[in-house]
Amino acid sequence: MAVPGVGLLTRLHLCAQRRTRVQRPILRLLSCPGTVAEDLRRDEQPSGSVETGFEDKIPRKRFSEMQNERREQAQRTVLIRCPEKISEKKFLKYLSQHGPINNHFFYESFGLYAVVEFCRKESVGSLQNGTRTPSMAMETAIPFRSRFLSLKLKNQTSEQSCIQSSDQLPPSNRKLFEITLLCRKYDQLNTLLKEFQLTEENTKLRYLTCSLIEDIAAAYFPDCVVRPFGSSVNTFGKLGCDLDMFLDLDETRNLSTHKTSGNFLTEFQVKNVPSERIATQKILSVIGECLDHFGPGCVGVQKILNARCPLVRFSHQASGFQCDLTTNNRIALTSSELLYIYGTLDSRVRALVFGIRCWARAHSLTSSIPGAWITNFSLTMMVIFFLQRRSPPILPTLDSLKTLADAEDKCIIEGNNCTFVRDLNRIKPSGNTETLELLLKEFFEYFGNFAFNKNSINIRQGREQNKPDSSPLYIQNPFETSLNISKNVSQSQLQKFVDLAQESAWVLQQKDTDRLSVSNNQPWGLAAILLPTVPNRRSFTKKKRKRSANESVRNLLESLKSNRTANFTETNEKRTVSTQT
Ligand code: GTP
Ligand code: MG
Repeated sequence: MAVPGVGLLTRLHLCAQRRTRVQRPILRLLSCPGTVAEDLRRDEQPSGSVETGFEDKIPRKRFSEMQNERREQAQRTVLIRCPEKISEKKFLKYLSQHGPINNHFFYESFGLYAVVEFCRKESVGSLQNGTRTPSMAMETAIPFRSRFLSLKLKNQTSEQSCIQSSDQLPPSNRKLFEITLLCRKYDQLNTLLKEFQLTEENTKLRYLTCSLIEDIAAAYFPDCVVRPFGSSVNTFGKLGCDLDMFLDLDETRNLSTHKTSGNFLTEFQVKNVPSERIATQKILSVIGECLDHFGPGCVGVQKILNARCPLVRFSHQASGFQCDLTTNNRIALTSSELLYIYGTLDSRVRALVFGIRCWARAHSLTSSIPGAWITNFSLTMMVIFFLQRRSPPILPTLDSLKTLADAEDKCIIEGNNCTFVRDLNRIKPSGNTETLELLLKEFFEYFGNFAFNKNSINIRQGREQNKPDSSPLYIQNPFETSLNISKNVSQSQLQKFVDLAQESAWVLQQKDTDRLSVSNNQPWGLAAILLPTVPNRRSFTKKKRKRSANESVRNLLESLKSNRTANFTETNEKRTVSTQT
């Protein structure tokens, strides 16, 4: 991926060109052919394209390939806190003393930061060698050599700021409403996806943050790997979502499996504890301490070691990410891989999931605090299940992905069979050509009428099954099949979901919501169902419900016209305690 041949001036020129056209992301044009950024760009669809699924015949990367490539890229990257006024040209020239730069971008998060990816890993070492530990007047710095640096100006007044920084936050609900209201008929869900999906820069920043945490954990476990999982990597991540990290110690454990000749084998002398859980708690406890005392930019470190899945939670101030670090959680990584496959197989999947997630968030069906509500993970499973139930199916069942697996794909984790095909190119495309609009409406109809009282959702077999217990919502964990991933959901939260699904199906069926008519104060399609609901609306007659919705719209449009701040808040998505089941 290193492209030493690309000159600094060319890159600056490209950067300047990009700035005049689009606000973000600078980095895409700075990336070179053959990089992940290039692949992402290739995968993007023009906004007007019809969504029929498997249009793209370009071979797609396996999850593990994508992860390895990104990780390697992150290891050549540094994070730099910059002075407010800085010349980008001089900045790049200064850093280029240590070797050619592959790409870079700036962003703001309580200060200006730069992410700089060198072409070669040695450049990072060279830069670190020329970096000093700060000396403080009142406090004492604990020396720590990392890839998170500060750049200081020797002459405070000499620089002119000419930096364009990329935005790492999601659009507000208000912006979301405007976008969906104003875009063309078939574009609502795809437009929403484009606005909310993780940008190339944001993804790079996520991998870089994992890499920085890995450096810290390596003080104890030199062969460890910190891998992102969950929505940061499963293709369903929204800007602002948390960063789930998995501390992988397999390399450390496997060192003893090297084959040697002779009748002896050597083992490390180790300390023993009574269970895997206690080992996990001890490991996370020391890593938590380490992050707290020595981790640059790691604040608010909480050790949540008695949870079903023990974790260390902290904020990485410089990136702005809320981080959850776990270990011994390989199944969650495998779930992310499975979702990555489903999200990549057919272009309608992500658009529909984003639409449903935004809908759920707008109606407070999901929340940033843990509780009896549906999680984004469960919602994604419901969408996958629904797409497996279409005729013909849009997504294959997990069992059919298992039958396509070869020897290399065989995977057993803690006695659970996690085998499924990893090579996306071996999965047959769906012949289903239903539009996203139709699928959205049908999703609400399907779950508005689902027999939740007796049936469970099961993506392994792709069909409803009798519920094994009395949980209001039962979504079978695809790998630990005796568990329910939505065990936390209460009857009243499920009922709220069902009511809203029925109402949204009804709204989407109305002919007059099928077109843009700002003058009549009529939102349509997705925009109509993203409106905040009136409590107990279900008891209203349909006519009343419609009038009430129209009133809300009228108020909202008036507010948009007069540019007043409406009753919307930023959707700075989340942090829920993983109710790992
Ligand atoms: P957002 O963070 O809400 O964007 O989605 P997410 O998919 O990242 O969810 P979350 O951060 O809550 O959890 C991270 C990952 O842990 C998920 O993607 C799943 O792989 C796994 N996970 C979360 N909740 C559960 C659960 O209840 N059961 C199981 N088995 N795995 C879960
Ligand atoms: Mg998450």
